[in-house]
Amino acid sequence: MDYRKFVEDRLSEIKATVGSAIAINALSGGVDSSVVTVLGHRALGNRLKTVFVDNALMRRGEPERVLKTFRDIGVPVESVNAREEFLAALAGLTDPEAKREAITSTFYSKVFSRLVKELGAKFLLHGTILTDIEETVAGIKRQHNILEQLGISTERAYGYAVLEPLKTLRKDDVREVAKVLGLPPGIWQRMPFPGPALAARIVGEVTRERLDVVQAATAIVEEELADCGAFQYLAVLLNDRATGIRNNKREYGHIVVVRCVESRDAREAAVTRLGWERLTRICERITAIPGVNRCLYDLTPKPPATIEYV
Ligand code: XMP
Repeated sequence: MDYRKFVEDRLSEIKATVGSAIAINALSGGVDSSVVTVLGHRALGNRLKTVFVDNALMRRGEPERVLKTFRDIGVPVESVNAREEFLAALAGLTDPEAKREAITSTFYSKVFSRLVKELGAKFLLHGTILTDIEETVAGIKRQHNILEQLGISTERAYGYAVLEPLKTLRKDDVREVAKVLGLPPGIWQRMPFPGPALAARIVGEVTRERLDVVQAATAIVEEELADCGAFQYLAVLLNDRATGIRNNKREYGHIVVVRCVESRDAREAAVTRLGWERLTRICERITAIPGVNRCLYDLTPKPPATIEYV
């Protein structure tokens, strides 16, 4: 594939479609939305408004890191604090699709449609990739960013048209495009992170307390596995408790699962054969998180499992 030509074609397409209107896009810091942000800025300059929505579901330090990266490359990004709105929408929900739906509708119907109105945007630039569309259409899982493919008219529902410049690409192609665009390796080398963020890694209800646990476990896993070269590694909080002993007393503690997989484009995945020493160290650190007394390593490939848990 000729990635330079791909970039040129998409720039012309965005310019022609948006014309003199204003477009908006949401940056999460992942490679897909980062590529869309840079493409959009090249095509539209300051007629693209990029927002970073803090939904309370990010990894520790993530909002600060993303904003700094884009400040450093000179692309203006506005940060929007929507933490309370997302937590309120997720309160009491345990069903995976209901949680996804709550995140999607809070994002699009509330936070985003408010921003679109404030900014007068007529277009939304979206980082949908081919795998998102395929898995959603096949009914495997509804990726949070799929709307049109499910017959949802964003123009009627939310008042803007959606442009998806990456919808013919898979993850490895997006990384190549990111390189062509001159994005820093910190962006194109980043491992995938799901749209619903840590809500995809909390089985059951998303609460502040449960988010704290999964954030702490995620930080440990990412630190310990940073050099392992796997496609993706993560920590998941299960919706159950296990009996344990701490300070000679019985406790019902949280159960955290560690997952680490090899894959080319996330459609299939094999489990990484991590060394025992590394696994033991991760287990020790994770069970030192207050309230966590069990740490498991997931040996299931995709299929039959998916990479994320929700
Ligand atoms: P699954 O869990 O479906 O994930 O095997 C495939 C890849 O996509 C990433 N990802 C998402 N997963 N909902 C998801 O369930 C999303 O909205 C989403 N966005 C990205 C996931 O991290 C894995 O790499």
